[in-house]
Amino acid sequence: MKPSEVFETDRLRLRPPTSDDAAIVFQQYTQDADVAKHMTWVPHRSISETELFISRCVSGWENGSVFTWVVVRRQDDQVMGMVEMRHDGFKADLGYVLAKSYWGNGYMTEAVGVVVGWLIEQDGIYRVWAVCDEENTRSARVMEKVGMKREGVLRRWIIHPNMSDEPRNCLCYSLVK
Ligand SMILES: CC(C)(COP(=O)(O)OP(=O)(O)OC[C@H]1O[C@@H](n2cnc3c(N)ncnc32)[C@H](O)[C@@H]1OP(=O)(O)O)[C@@H](O)C(=O)NCCC(=O)NCCS
Repeated sequence: MKPSEVFETDRLRLRPPTSDDAAIVFQQYTQDADVAKHMTWVPHRSISETELFISRCVSGWENGSVFTWVVVRRQDDQVMGMVEMRHDGFKADLGYVLAKSYWGNGYMTEAVGVVVGWLIEQDGIYRVWAVCDEENTRSARVMEKVGMKREGVLRRWIIHPNMSDEPRNCLCYSLVK
């Protein structure tokens, strides 16, 4: 399955990343410890780390391992964050991140909502799911607002290195058909 390369909502455009995005993505969020707090990566200390990350995103589209979209505000073309999706048979899972200055405006609910809505309509996809750290209430709220249901706690599921060296409990959400 190759997903749609571009999604548009009222306020946002989601499009594949290019190498030109590294500088703005670094400036906007990959170096920000608050953004990285509940993520699996540590804040980037130089733009070269973000360049490597973006190059992996570009290859992901080529080899089908992971599909990422840069979230851009339509009114001014501002790069604000990213959504990523991995496809595994009848399942697809998501991750997402937004620069801190844009939090709390419903942007990520809008971005995740359009991707989840598209995915669940695809033939052969029966489950769209995602996890977040059990303390990541903002992220849990995004999943609830797009209609995903909390399935439970995956205990000791993922290491979030900015919080602890030990695996953390995560909340698991899904939308199924
Ligand atoms: C999680 C994240 C993507 C949310 O994006 P966003 O655009 O701010 O999300 P929204 O504005 O659509 O919704 C955020 C919700 O969290 C709520 N919220 C805000 N601050 C909160 C807090 N301190 N505690 C609990 N909920 C909070 C908001 O009220 C809102 O819910 P509401 O619409 O019911 O009021 C963003 O905070 C982020 O990028 N965080 C860092 C990276 C991350 O954690 N990614 C997810 C990994 S699983």
